[in-house]
Amino acid sequence: MKKTVLVSGGAGFIGSHVTVELARAGYDVLIADNFSNCDETNYKGVCAILGRELPMIPMDFCHKSAVEDLFDRHHIDAVIHFAAFKAVGESVAEPLKYYRNNLTSFINILEAARSQGGCNVLFSSSATVYGQTDKLPVTEDTPRQPAESPYGNTKTMCEDILRDSVKAYPGVRGIALRYFNPIGAHPSALIGELPRGVPNNLVPFITQTAIGKRECLSVFGNDYPTPDGTCLRDFIDIVDLAKAHVCAVARMLDGRMKQDYEIFNVGTGRPLSVLELITAFEKVNGVKLNWKYAPRRPGDVVAIWADPTRAEQELGWKAERSVEQTLATAWAWEKHLASLSF
Ligand code: UD1
Repeated sequence: MKKTVLVSGGAGFIGSHVTVELARAGYDVLIADNFSNCDETNYKGVCAILGRELPMIPMDFCHKSAVEDLFDRHHIDAVIHFAAFKAVGESVAEPLKYYRNNLTSFINILEAARSQGGCNVLFSSSATVYGQTDKLPVTEDTPRQPAESPYGNTKTMCEDILRDSVKAYPGVRGIALRYFNPIGAHPSALIGELPRGVPNNLVPFITQTAIGKRECLSVFGNDYPTPDGTCLRDFIDIVDLAKAHVCAVARMLDGRMKQDYEIFNVGTGRPLSVLELITAFEKVNGVKLNWKYAPRRPGDVVAIWADPTRAEQELGWKAERSVEQTLATAWAWEKHLASLSF
């Protein structure tokens, strides 16, 4: 029998790519989203890629009775939880908004899962939980650091909430995937990242500058102790990242977990500097980017990249795309968006 996977925040950047890969792997996918931070573009894109309509439930996971209702009405074999606020700067200005939204929604899901007698829960975590560490690359056993922002803290706290729930409630199992820096778009250019207002993240800022929406990209800091003075990150292709979720869901549903709570890094294992990424973007897409150096951005770590060995050995997952391929998809997506606005 086909298994059903609930994807909270399934209309967002990561959620939409994961939905496509799950559907292609043969799962029934229930998308749920409150469209608080996105419109229907990605949902429509998902349906266009798959050539069929997928069920979409407009709902807010902070509403406990709505979540209970959802679990009562559908048999859900696994849930992947993406629905959360994610702007680091905003979380510093509005911590309670972040704690209320990101923690309440996850607790509601776990309570519903518990009252159904258990469920497989995949939590969308982040490399932000590692903070800056001297020992690179980071493995899953690298100690977490106190979070730099309320946003980062919600990731750490949700990981702990999942770990403790799995311990206490029979039938609840969980995996936390710690993403490094997801970038790019679907090769169809029908789904991708849709930042509201001025993008905080590097690649959307690059593509918006290249298309002329932004005048100039600021490279935050060129005096870091790295080979070219700019920060080092592990940029991971969004479709590669989405496939890691399919592997993790299959591991949970096939009973292959070694412990009831597991953590996996989702990264390439290859560090790239901000400057190297800009150069690669210009080269592969044949565009010249207007950029300048600017002061360091508060809260940025100097360097972080993954040791993805555990994901490779246990999930059978490995990043496949080159950063050039990924940056070509990011550019194709930005051009697609530009064509929609004419
Ligand atoms: C941030 C979050 C991370 C989250 C990720 C989502 C923190 C500390 N980081 O990662 O949790 O998962 O976004 O993708 O919580 N840069 C510029 N100019 C710009 C924008 C960025 O030079 O206009 C630089 C930054 O200084 C940084 C690098 O590019 O060195 C990557 O920045 P960004 O894309 O914002 O991701 P992170 O801060 O690494």
